[in-house]
Amino acid sequence: MKKVLILASGNGSNAENISKFLKKTDSGNQIKVLCNVKKAAVFEKMKNLNIPCLLIKNSINKCLIKECRDFQPDLIILAGYLKKIPIDLIEFFKKKIINIHPSLLPKYGGQGMYGDNVHNQVLLNQEKETGITIHYVNEKYDRGEIIFQKKTSLQNDETLNTIKAKIKNLEMKYFPIIIYQLLYVRKH
Ligand code: GRF
Repeated sequence: MKKVLILASGNGSNAENISKFLKKTDSGNQIKVLCNVKKAAVFEKMKNLNIPCLLIKNSINKCLIKECRDFQPDLIILAGYLKKIPIDLIEFFKKKIINIHPSLLPKYGGQGMYGDNVHNQVLLNQEKETGITIHYVNEKYDRGEIIFQKKTSLQNDETLNTIKAKIKNLEMKYFPIIIYQLLYVRKH
């Protein structure tokens, strides 16, 4: 039985998808979600899945450290979590904190590069391809060691919405599989 801690700040479609996948695998995983935004849609999604989802507010980093130390997760997953992870946690859970980023890092990563900002830049630069990157988290935004990338090609008539849909498809398909591999297959 593995313990998985998911951190989210918003919609929670990845948190939901990962949770459904892990529940289906029948390996008896224990999942807990933390969110730092009170009205985030992730709360409702987790409620429907019967998965605990806690609001972390005020001294967010202190709360986070306490939750991590108490829960002792095997893997910490950032799924749209927009705050920086405190350095103590990064050191304590080395190679146990992963993030998904909606571009082919190192392109379009770093502070301020999240959500539509990423895809708008991709559009502006008329990129011929984009994709997703799953990586370990270190002290620099979007700069930790890359675990997995998947590309998708872009046509001349792409819009923000078509790019978002392509990226969402990749996230839904690959993120849970990589998480499963990290938990049960890969040695890291
Ligand atoms: C995803 O696009 C992910 O790549 C990025 O944040 C977004 C989270 O979406 N890190 P959701 O909250 O899981 O729907």
